[in-house]
Order: sequence, then structure tokens, then C-alpha cells
Amino acid sequence: MIKGTNRHVIIISTIAAFGGLLFGYDTGVISGALLLIKSQFVEPGTQQMAPELQEWVVSVVLIGAMVGALVSGKLADIFGRKKIIIVTSVIFIIGSLISGLAPVVSMIIVGRIVIGLAIGVASFTVPLYISEISPKKIRGALVSLNQLAITIGIFVSYLVDLGFAETHEGWRWMFIVGVLPAIILGIGMFFLPDTPRWLLSKGKEKEAILALEKTVEPNDVKNELNSIQQVLRTESKSKSSLKELFQPWLRYALIIGIGLMFFQQFTGINTVIYYAPTIFQIAGFHGEFAPILATTLVGVVNILMTIVAIWLIDRWGRKPLTYLGLSGMVVALTVLGIAFNQAEVLGSALKWVSVASVVIYIAFFAISLGPIAWLIISEIYPLRIRGIAMSIATFSNWLFNFIVAKTFLTLTKILTIPGTEITTANGTESSNPAGAFWLFAIVGIGGLIFTYFYMPETKGHTLEEIEEHWAQGKNPRMLK
Ligand code: BGC
Repeated sequence: MIKGTNRHVIIISTIAAFGGLLFGYDTGVISGALLLIKSQFVEPGTQQMAPELQEWVVSVVLIGAMVGALVSGKLADIFGRKKIIIVTSVIFIIGSLISGLAPVVSMIIVGRIVIGLAIGVASFTVPLYISEISPKKIRGALVSLNQLAITIGIFVSYLVDLGFAETHEGWRWMFIVGVLPAIILGIGMFFLPDTPRWLLSKGKEKEAILALEKTVEPNDVKNELNSIQQVLRTESKSKSSLKELFQPWLRYALIIGIGLMFFQQFTGINTVIYYAPTIFQIAGFHGEFAPILATTLVGVVNILMTIVAIWLIDRWGRKPLTYLGLSGMVVALTVLGIAFNQAEVLGSALKWVSVASVVIYIAFFAISLGPIAWLIISEIYPLRIRGIAMSIATFSNWLFNFIVAKTFLTLTKILTIPGTEITTANGTESSNPAGAFWLFAIVGIGGLIFTYFYMPETKGHTLEEIEEHWAQGKNPRMLK
């Protein structure tokens, strides 16, 4: 049985996680929308939209997200987590309407930038909000609801894309459907409290007690209140700025946040999320339907394994899951590379080996770096600068994402071993992605080493205990 207060925090977290749903939906929707947009806005004298313009339609959202993440950190510390999430939901609505109603491609691009801004803000304010309202015993699971929502959002976007694929100007609907979860997020958040931790940092004790009463056991309210207040007393009042983050006592926390985001992105997750159909085409699936179907399978496994992560994250802890997940990813990437490298030998078996390896890869990502990178950055920073610190880690996530997405196809070409080129059925590709996958595997090994030296085990600790750990100048590995 789920206890009363737990039920309450689960409901609160689920509402906030609509921000994650929007993150997933709005990053995933473009793959299907692009197919329709590029055949509608054809360049005069050609059959298609210019490839550079297509690239912009896809990638501006990542640039928007970088900017959104960077500018909003301080705002989340000043105005509170709740208000920022509500404003974000409005930005999501505006961006979806601009892109859905756009008369020309440049307006679609403007709309996608606006949506990107909202994604950038939501991607860290939601984990931040959930982390700060959660009781320590189930904080990992609750914050990971956000990652679950991201994976569901990605999957739903595939389905919506399929549903409108044959509709006249169906891309408009693909964008406009995103308005719905944004409305739920905005209205839902309106009725929720801000986090007790942020409220106390602003001296709003009465409201903080009310929020605590909704989220922790009645017997624990006083204790929680005291320990948050104590941490706030020891934090220097004047230092709530960026400079604080670069103090020696927080150096580890800074490295951990940016490092985890580096390994989350540079092990290649979004080459799978954004390019899976292309990878499957190179592996030998013909046409569009089969690769898209295989991609849908990847989406389902992503969701299911995130549920497994939610189950394990507060039981096993963050570190064991990261070891397990990264090891599995490294093996899957290595096998994927070998399969592509031996394409001639494997023949038509290549397509099945590639689907199996990609599915295994995503399964291991989903139980580890997917939820854990976002969880850890919501746990390791001191209260007074938590917003701004998370926004920096989040900015790096979007920057790394952008670099990998932009360079993947070129990287594939550069790292193709001469003589192993594969030409797809439609003759558009004549490179081999084996080298790129091996490179991601090597980064994954680096991730294992990083986890050993730098990752703290935050399971079962309150946010205040974690902050206390840094304040004592201790090494991250000593937090167990
Ligand atoms: C990552 C995204 C990725 C998604 C896939 C998130 O944790 O930050 O870049 O697309 O997981 O499930």
C-alpha cells in the first residue's frame, strides 16, 4: 500500500513530470514532421527543401534549449521553481502555436527556437522541483518519473507522427498536439506548492511548513524543517552567485554535473534517438516502414527499462546501476561496431544483429545514464545556488547533445575504414558507422572510470546531508 503522504508526492511529481513529457515530445516530433515540411516547402527548381535549411529546422531546438537552460538558472533561484515551471508551460504553448501555424519555413524555425527555450528550462527545473519536494527514501524514483515522462513523450511523438503522416499539412497538427500537455502542466502546477526548501531559503516559513506537511510524514516535518534551516544558516548569505559555484569546496560537484552530462551525450544516445531509422536503413532494412517500426521497438524498450530503473534506483543505489548500465552500453556498442565492420560476412543477418544491439544499448542506457544524470544534478548542489548550478550542467548537456547530433553523420564518414563502405538500398550512404560506435564505446569506458572516482552515492541521504558532505571538504567517493 502506498501511504498517504507518499501518494501525495507521487501525484505532485507526476504533474511536474508533464514538463518531461514535453521535453520528449518536442524533441521527438521533428523526425516525422520534417518529412512533410521538406516536401511542402520545396526550393524553386528542385524537388526538396535545401538540406541546410532542413538541418536548421531540426537543430535550432537544441540551440534554444542551451539558451533556455543558461538564462533561467538564476531566475529559478530568485522567483522559485514553481513560477518558472508555469511560465515555461506558457512558452511551450506559444512555441507550439507559432510553429504549427507558421505560413513560411522561417516561422517554423522561430517557433522551434521558442520551444527549445522552454525545453531547456523544463529539463532542469522539473528534476529540481521534484528533488526538493521528495522524501529521501523515494527521491530517486520520483525524480526519475521525469525521465520516464521524457521516454513516453518521445514514443508518443512517434505515434502522433505516424497518425498525421498522411494528413494534408499534417505537420501542423504534430506541433499543435504539444499544446495539450503544456496546458495540463501549467494548470496543474498552479495548484501545487513551491518546494519547502526554496520557500525556506526565502524566509517563507509558514508556506514551507504547509508544503512539508503535504510531502513528508507528519512526524518528520519538524526534523526536515530544522535540518534545512541549519544548512541555510551555514551557507553564507551573501554568496548566492555564480562565483560560489567555482569555490574549491564545490569543484567536485561542478565536475560531476558536467562530467555526467558529457558521458550521457558522448556515448551516443541521441544518434540512436534521432537517427535510428537511418542506422537501420544502412543495416539493410528497405523502405521507410520497417526502419520506423524497428525504431518504435527501441522507444518501447526505452520506456520499459526506465520503469525498471525507477524500481531499482532507491534499492540498489545510483552507482551500481551506472556501472551496470555503462558496461552494457559498452558491450552493445562494441558488438554493433563489429557487426557493421563485418557487414559483408553477416549479409542480411546484419539488420537483425543491429536491431538487437541497439535495443540492448538503449535498455542499458535507460536503467543508468538516462535517469541518473538528471537525478544526480538535482541532488548534489547547495540549496542557495541549486538553480544556477543545475542550469550550467544542463547547458552542457544540450551543448554536448548538439555537438554529437551535428557531427554524427560526418564522424561516420571520417571514421569509415576504407574497404568497409556500405551502400544503402537507395544509394545515399556509402560509409560505415562501425568506427563511430567504437568511439562511443571508448567514451563509455571513460565513463566507468569517471563513475569510480567521481560519483557519490546519494541514495538514502537528504539533500542537506549531501551538502554537508561537500562543506566538510570530503571526496565524492566517501559519500556512500
Ligand atoms: C537525455 C536525452 C535523450 C533521452 C532519451 C535523456 O535523459 O538527456 O538527450 O534523448 O534521455 O531517452
